[in-house]
Amino acid sequence: MLEITDLHVRYGRLTALRGISLTVQEGEIACVVGPNGAGKSTTLLSISGVLSPAEGTITFDGQTINGTRVEDVARMGISQVPEGRHIFTGLSVEENLQVGSAVRKDKDEIRKDFKRVLETFPILGERRKQPAGKLSGGEQQMLAIGRALMTNPRFMTIDEPSLGLAPKIVDRVYEVLIDLREKRGLTLLIVEQSSERALKAADTMYVLRNGEIQLHGKAADLQDGVEVHKAYFGFTEDHENEVMI
Ligand SMILES: Nc1ncnc2c1ncn2[C@@H]1O[C@H](COP(=O)(O)OP(=O)(O)O)[C@@H](O)[C@H]1O
Ligand SMILES: [Mg+2]
Repeated sequence: MLEITDLHVRYGRLTALRGISLTVQEGEIACVVGPNGAGKSTTLLSISGVLSPAEGTITFDGQTINGTRVEDVARMGISQVPEGRHIFTGLSVEENLQVGSAVRKDKDEIRKDFKRVLETFPILGERRKQPAGKLSGGEQQMLAIGRALMTNPRFMTIDEPSLGLAPKIVDRVYEVLIDLREKRGLTLLIVEQSSERALKAADTMYVLRNGEIQLHGKAADLQDGVEVHKAYFGFTEDHENEVMI
């Protein structure tokens, strides 16, 4: 469904991505894990059209999308839950959800999706008139996911959904994500700093460090975490136990 080939992205003279390639099949949950500064957010911002790659291609359903405007990428069915959620705290829960459907014109469908989001997240229905800033961190994450769903996506990227949340809440967020794949057939690309929770949910796992994919494979094959750990931190060949970050 989504294919990234030899992607290079630069911020001025700093190269953030050095030729990464990855594939997400329709209906799967793919996960990219890597330490802070690895290039995870840069990858997602390139998919959503916020950043333009210096080299390489991104295709969605076989169509090249790099260089496409952000609104057009959204219209193609790609939606993003950004790092740090970016909730409009002064707007109500309902208004935040409306931001998600702002690019759409199909009023009846928008109404249906709105209903569906409130069914998925009853708490958002209960709080719909309240300022979003009053929600807890976990509820704000649900709102950010709900807002992304209001674009009616087929493919969703989520940047560090567990950031700053208690483990129990993280479990709830992941239950929701797995449910969205099961019940709506949504394809998901999740990026996380910690591999543990993501490994359990993902079908495919990529480890990104220093702008390069160090390891990828079926999550089931990487469950014991040893290989992932090595790829994540990087080991010198001569000193197996030495970490060189
Ligand atoms: N707006 C920016 N301007 C300059 N450098 C940036 C910018 N955003 C990110 N970077 C740099 O690009 C690299 C990758 O960052 P990022 O994609 O945010 O990593 P991650 O999401 O994995 O923490 C880092 O070295 C970071 O400092
Ligand atoms: Mg990031």
